[in-house]
Amino acid sequence: MKRVYFDNAATTPLDEQVLEAMLPYMKSKFGNPSAVHGFGRETRAAIEKARKIVANCLNCSTGEIFFTSGGTESNNKAIKRTIYDLGIKHIVTSPIEHYSVSHTVEFLEKDHGVEVHYVKLDELGRVVLQDLELKLAAVDETCLVSLMHGNNEIGNLIDLELVSEICAQFSAYFHTDTVQTVAHIPIDLQKTKVHFLSGSAHKFNGPKGEGFLYINSDVKINPHMHGGGQERNMRPGTENVYGIVGLGKAIELAHENMEEHRAYILDIKMYMARQLKENIPGVKFLGDWDGESLYTVLSVCFPENDKSSMLLFNMDIDGIACSAGSACSSGANTGSHVVRNFQPECAERTIRFSFSKYNNRDEVDYVIERLKVLYDVMVTGNP
Ligand SMILES: Cc1ncc(COP(=O)(O)O)c(C=O)c1O
Repeated sequence: MKRVYFDNAATTPLDEQVLEAMLPYMKSKFGNPSAVHGFGRETRAAIEKARKIVANCLNCSTGEIFFTSGGTESNNKAIKRTIYDLGIKHIVTSPIEHYSVSHTVEFLEKDHGVEVHYVKLDELGRVVLQDLELKLAAVDETCLVSLMHGNNEIGNLIDLELVSEICAQFSAYFHTDTVQTVAHIPIDLQKTKVHFLSGSAHKFNGPKGEGFLYINSDVKINPHMHGGGQERNMRPGTENVYGIVGLGKAIELAHENMEEHRAYILDIKMYMARQLKENIPGVKFLGDWDGESLYTVLSVCFPENDKSSMLLFNMDIDGIACSAGSACSSGANTGSHVVRNFQPECAERTIRFSFSKYNNRDEVDYVIERLKVLYDVMVTGNP
């Protein structure tokens, strides 16, 4: 059976060249990077090389990059430490953030008395920037703004530069979850002033369990854990050397070929959208899909019928991997908190297709062919 992987916003396959770069650090180059002997110096040098690559890609200084276990840790650390260490009592965020942000914010609200202000979304699920200004103007204390750059479910992008200017105007701290955009969309931290920015290697063909947090050098927060002095005292624990090496290699490769990948993947997304429109009557695309959107994500609301909630499950049987906001263990689509927020009628029949450089148009054709069969079966009840 053919297998098609259209779930790249969940995670991407490891690039062969990344694996090659990592392998020596799983075998012969195993020294503890904190050790002073040659084995240690070798792995320390590899970590610092990766840090330099990340800093170059984002145009920031190496001292502002801290390696973590991924996007979840980075988001938790940035938001919680801002509240714990900087005396901030107000968070302005959106109702469609990733759970690693939204559940952190809810925890701080419940357990630490933080006041949370949710910005309005328009009919396409875009953050209403005038409302962000209104929310910031209404609070006469310093706020933390946490808004994701690219939404992992519907693909909407915020104008990072504009949001950072609004935050600066109100002297707010700005944290942005760039897990879906780092290594996919250029980010220049000299032009875009953010205080915290999170990235995760497995979203750009790097290894799972490795990420980073950019902390602007003007911001002084405390470590989230205590232990040895690794990551300049900010993240104790022996470093995941091969993960860090893999992250460095993956971001480097992505930056070398970013424009080429963008054009190639965007073509697949738009081809898929055209094919869906032509072949499945009544499909709708969510978010600002053909405007300011991730070129990797197409979120599709399928027409309602009695079995539309089982589409995901049926596609899996056909070897097609895609996803909904949350899937229960039976594979039935239980609905997305993101979609529910601005298009509730679509929440239980929306499927996200997300693409990478390893996909092609033939795979789209296969998915459309299977969807046509599935849809016909569902509509007519004829197996
Ligand atoms: C937007 C966004 N933020 C954060 C995360 C969490 O990243 P990680 O899996 O590295 O913890 C994800 C991953 O699903 C994501 O898509």
